Amino acid sequence: MATNSLLRLDGVSKVFDTGTVGLDNVTLDIAHGEFISLLGPSGCGKTTSLRVMAGFEAPTGGRVLLDGKDITALRPYDRPLNTVFQDYALFPHMNVAENVGFGLSLRKLPAGDAKKKIAEALDLVGLADKINARVSMLSGGQRQRVALARALVCSPRVLLLDEPLSALDANLREQMQIELKRLQSRLGTTFVMVTHDQAEALSISDRIVVLNRGRIEQIASPSELYDAPATRFVADFIGSMNVLDAEIVEATTTGVRVAAGSMILEVPAECVRATPGRGGPVLVCVRPEELTAHPDATDNTVAAQILSTVFYGPTLRLFVETNAGQKLMIDMGRRRSTETFDAGATVHVRPVRGSGRLLDKD
Ligand SMILES: Nc1ncnc2c1ncn2[C@@H]1O[C@H](COP(=O)(O)OP(=O)(O)O)[C@@H](O)[C@H]1O
Ligand SMILES: [Mg+2]
Repeated sequence: MATNSLLRLDGVSKVFDTGTVGLDNVTLDIAHGEFISLLGPSGCGKTTSLRVMAGFEAPTGGRVLLDGKDITALRPYDRPLNTVFQDYALFPHMNVAENVGFGLSLRKLPAGDAKKKIAEALDLVGLADKINARVSMLSGGQRQRVALARALVCSPRVLLLDEPLSALDANLREQMQIELKRLQSRLGTTFVMVTHDQAEALSISDRIVVLNRGRIEQIASPSELYDAPATRFVADFIGSMNVLDAEIVEATTTGVRVAAGSMILEVPAECVRATPGRGGPVLVCVRPEELTAHPDATDNTVAAQILSTVFYGPTLRLFVETNAGQKLMIDMGRRRSTETFDAGATVHVRPVRGSGRLLDKD
């Protein structure tokens, strides 16, 4: 067991009565005070993981440990964990204080203590002035905060959040991401958040667990996940990526030199996830922002034709095809860009130094 592990899934599997495999031998250590996200496409097992942690779902294999103690058989309310559900699950006939106090009422606190805790929890989420409001009168963002306050009022060791921001519109969602992260840092409470939104996971998490078909693909910090995906699935799932067939040219002192068609890249050692000694086919993965397009040919440029362009605001994305038939996406920063890129024009494509990451093809 990792020394700093607070909550551990130890070889957890979940096969539903229908025969569907929700989780397949998942082992995961969650550290004290970290903000960890479970990320993956719909149906990959995110909610199931969270429900197993919370005790709403019994695993069909493996164990759940808290501080090294086996809690697999503990009922949800006997676990020092709390959940914010995807739809908030607020009680519409209760006011804000009653909703927040509901979690406490199960713990039988003296009335005075409960009142104080409710006020503190609402203060934490910036809703002190709404303590007597009816839930039905609140906006989506305010309901989200009530759900958060209700989950935090019992001071859980771990807060479990299932797609907590998915019901909010884009601007509010971004604002709440920042607030959620601030709240987590301030409290020092361990947060486990489920999301299918990679931008959300990247911006908010200390670590991200990428799930696919009930298995862990990779556990890493946001920047490591982005810069050095461990599998083809992660490379495709996180951000935009050009995935190109490549051949290893030689090992260098700092990494590996590869050829993708006539394009040569020097992949830094920390981004090499292929086993170069194996001699098998490899893939080089290059982000669109790691390629640049120029009007003139120079060293290590590859000629390509612009197929189409898409305006993104901060960047302009070029879809090009090289003379060898490679299709590439290129993101050009627009801050100082005075060039124009028209469909049909020829450009010369060059990889940025030290870019690319290397995977085994199979
Ligand atoms: N109660 C259940 N009965 C049968 N299958 C289920 C049940 N809950 C989830 N599943 C299945 O398990 C898989 C994982 O589901 P889930 O954890 O909800 O995915 P996610 O939250 O990542 O979208 C899916 O294939 C889903 O259909
Ligand atoms: Mg889900």
